Amino acid sequence: MAKLPILIYGSPLLRQKTKEVERIDEPLQQLIDDMVETMYTAPGVGLAANQVGTPIRLLVMNPSEEKDPEGLIVLINPEIVLAEGEVMGEEGCLSIPEVREQVIRPHHLVVRGYDREGREMEVSASDLVARILQHEIDHLDGILFIDRLSTAKKGLIKQKLRKTLKEGTPPF
Ligand code: NI
Repeated sequence: MAKLPILIYGSPLLRQKTKEVERIDEPLQQLIDDMVETMYTAPGVGLAANQVGTPIRLLVMNPSEEKDPEGLIVLINPEIVLAEGEVMGEEGCLSIPEVREQVIRPHHLVVRGYDREGREMEVSASDLVARILQHEIDHLDGILFIDRLSTAKKGLIKQKLRKTLKEGTPPF
């Protein structure tokens, strides 16, 4: 397993819609292992494949505090089939350093996809798990959590990010 570099806000790959996974093979298994290690090392609770430079529909997440292996979710080609309710909660993102904001998300989510063995799976989740799932699926669609904030708030955050990310001029 290897820790992968995480792309930071301003990288075009974070803004592209990712492609469906068509084949579950050895390189994909390697990528999944590397993504899990990268997420745990960061540390973070979720990671989308395009955040580590591979624009495919794959996410890993583990909302458990102690990185309990039981809590690990690997989801390929996820699709939201049900989103219900609204709830506010704090979010951050490994690709957006030093920003944490309250975001409104569905309270309950049902997502269908495939596990790392290619078996169909359905995740029915509420609260934090639903929040992480939606945050990561957003990534796969090129959407960042700050896009879910008000225009005014987003403007302030972009200003802050310009200061934080001193090198170059990210394509805001
Ligand atoms: Ni994120």
